[in-house]
Amino acid sequence: MAGAPTQLLRLLPLLLLVLPSGLREYLSPEINHRPEEDGTAPDPGVAGDAVLHPIVLVPGVSCSKLEARLTGAYRPSVPRCGAMKGKGWFGLWDNCSDLPAHHYVHCFMEQMSLVYDPVADDYRNLPGVETRVPNFGSARGFQINPEHPDWCLQALRRELERIGYRDGDTLFGAPYDLRRAPPMPGQTSRAYSFYFRQLTRLIEDASRRNQGRKAILFGHSFGGTVALAFVQSTPMAWRDRYIKHLILAAAPPAAGVVPTVKYAASGPEVLYVPTAPPPSLRPMWRTFESAVVNFPSPAVFGRRPLVVTARRNYSAHDMAEFLAAAGFGAASVLAFRRREVTSMDRFQPPMVPTTCINGVSNETLEQLVYWDGDFNARPVLVYGDGDGFINLVSMLAFDEQMRQQNEQNKLFKSIRLEGARHSTIVTDDWALKRVMQEILEANRISG
Ligand SMILES: *[C@@H]1O[C@H](CO)[C@@H](O)[C@H](O)[C@H]1NC(C)=O
Ligand SMILES: *[C@@H]1O[C@H](CO)[C@@H](O)[C@H](O)[C@H]1NC(C)=O
Ligand SMILES: *[C@@H]1O[C@H](CO)[C@@H](O)[C@H](O)[C@H]1NC(C)=O
Repeated sequence: MAGAPTQLLRLLPLLLLVLPSGLREYLSPEINHRPEEDGTAPDPGVAGDAVLHPIVLVPGVSCSKLEARLTGAYRPSVPRCGAMKGKGWFGLWDNCSDLPAHHYVHCFMEQMSLVYDPVADDYRNLPGVETRVPNFGSARGFQINPEHPDWCLQALRRELERIGYRDGDTLFGAPYDLRRAPPMPGQTSRAYSFYFRQLTRLIEDASRRNQGRKAILFGHSFGGTVALAFVQSTPMAWRDRYIKHLILAAAPPAAGVVPTVKYAASGPEVLYVPTAPPPSLRPMWRTFESAVVNFPSPAVFGRRPLVVTARRNYSAHDMAEFLAAAGFGAASVLAFRRREVTSMDRFQPPMVPTTCINGVSNETLEQLVYWDGDFNARPVLVYGDGDGFINLVSMLAFDEQMRQQNEQNKLFKSIRLEGARHSTIVTDDWALKRVMQEILEANRISG
């Protein structure tokens, strides 16, 4: 009887040494007593499995693929863009190297574009363009940026797999339509109604597969905005039953962030398309609701000039005027006024255990100077504190809002990682380790 199990027992301390510290702390008490009691060797794998709550990853804005299908109703601006008409589903936002390789960048921008429908107060595709998000449910189907293969939660996924998480069993992914923003309560969004139903079902299934355990919902960057809005959209009894913990890593708070203003004016730096620098992606970006949903809010940014020109300054109160001056279409400005301005600072605590992890002490855009009022020119940038994307004042406002609600305050933890940046907070070893500790901590808290 003294064979393999005893040997394994001797090896265990060594095995534990190579595990990340959070898991080591977690496993040690279990492993210390079990072998003596029944004489069988503990199996760290099984021990790991036994304690893991399912986790659902919601990645950043560039990380969800999008497929399209062009029907007869599609009227391409140039014949070339109609090449895929009637040919079924294809990856529109998928392998971004493919776009220049097939001279498809212009067509891509056209087919990605949204149109605001003022009657329905919702966004839709161009006529004849149908879209869908592939790989829903998997944490292995996100879009990969060839220049940053660790982005889109790839490094985090590998860490999770290292401690025993398995895609489809305990680990899941919830990509979304990157062009759209989650609606505030009372707003219409057909796309998000569908997505929230999908995510509800995914979490219920994940729980069922895992002996009824609640799920941890993890959102990074814009994925945090989506994850938070999802929780807020669910009935309280459902949240209590299914959400173990909400973890928001570098999620833009409701108060908004200044860099979104720069992307709107000068083009997005978040979508990587080879050969297509940010300014060239601007016409497409400006049709997206995700481009303007995190604009800075008056309650937090007040009257301070965010955009400075010789003739006039624009504060958070003047963002609709700024969009018009920067060349946004009338429909997009109307959509901004109706959907974003009215919902800025409307904050509801998620009322589930929540941990926020944010980087600080990195230069973060606070003001843009387009002195000549030419928004095609390169702005002079003025920096303050934050994670390189999220302004510190927004993070502080979020914490304050969470703490104002007494019940939420008991379930809220805010962590600042000195020197972590918006994207590297889930890729740099030291920051990733800290994020993993919080995931393990969320697993450990009873309830
Ligand atoms: C992406 O597209 C490029 C260019 O068409 C091709 O060389 C590459 O193999 C593709 N990568 C993947 C992962 O499909
Ligand atoms: C705009 O803001 C700048 C910087 O705060 C200030 O110096 C300038 O006087 C303001 N200009 C106008 C027209 O209000
Ligand atoms: C980000 O913060 C770290 C630590 O404070 C610092 O070393 C790094 O230079 C900063 N980077 C920027 C761009 O501010």
